[in-house]
Amino acid sequence: MKVSKYNPSNADEIEQLFIKTFSDSEGRSEGEVIGSLVRDIMDTTKANDLYCFIASENDQIIGGVFFTKMIFESGVNAFILSPMATVTDHQGKGVGQKLINFALKTLKEDGVELAITYGDPDFYSKVGFGIVAENVVPAPSKLSCPEGWLAQSLVGGEIEPITGKSHCVEAFNKPEIW
Ligand SMILES: CC(C)(COP(=O)(O)OP(=O)(O)OC[C@H]1O[C@@H](n2cnc3c(N)ncnc32)[C@H](O)[C@@H]1OP(=O)(O)O)[C@@H](O)C(=O)NCCC(=O)NCCS
Repeated sequence: MKVSKYNPSNADEIEQLFIKTFSDSEGRSEGEVIGSLVRDIMDTTKANDLYCFIASENDQIIGGVFFTKMIFESGVNAFILSPMATVTDHQGKGVGQKLINFALKTLKEDGVELAITYGDPDFYSKVGFGIVAENVVPAPSKLSCPEGWLAQSLVGGEIEPITGKSHCVEAFNKPEIW
């Protein structure tokens, strides 16, 4: 299995990976919702505000993860992981954790100080994320599931409370996502 940065020419294959994987796990309509979110992320996010990493095997994409810029008034350099998918018949074999670990290493090398995500603590705690309060890392919108608000420092030590508001990229700028 190979992990690499995505090439925009793979956009259709990546969109299909997310539609298929989320349709399998949560039904066709959720698959379509996540597929259009992923398309929107790839189409509307500035190159400097976007990372997408893919895992491939035999020239087929079997996993993908997106990170997009979060702007904090304090100026901390932060990205949020969302969404990610490992194609159904490759799940549970370490692909997701390898993708995230490769991504975090790359972000760190690029000077990113804070990685955030919004998801299942049981899974994301395997790759260093922990639950954070919204008064430590402010969310861009009211969270429907605050126990899924997770972060990790990429520069070591505790996460210092961040004051002021945060803003996500345009593709996530919809209250129903949060
Ligand atoms: C969640 C997902 C990305 C994990 O990818 P993966 O390649 O299967 O993950 P890995 O094989 O690296 O890690 C699996 C580990 O996480 C756990 N895990 C996997 N999915 C989990 C989930 N939804 N909830 C809790 N734990 C989970 C497994 O128990 C396993 O633990 P172990 O290594 O101790 O046995 C993948 O299952 C997936 O695409 N699911 C459908 C889409 C989705 O829910 N995406 C995440 C939200 S954006």
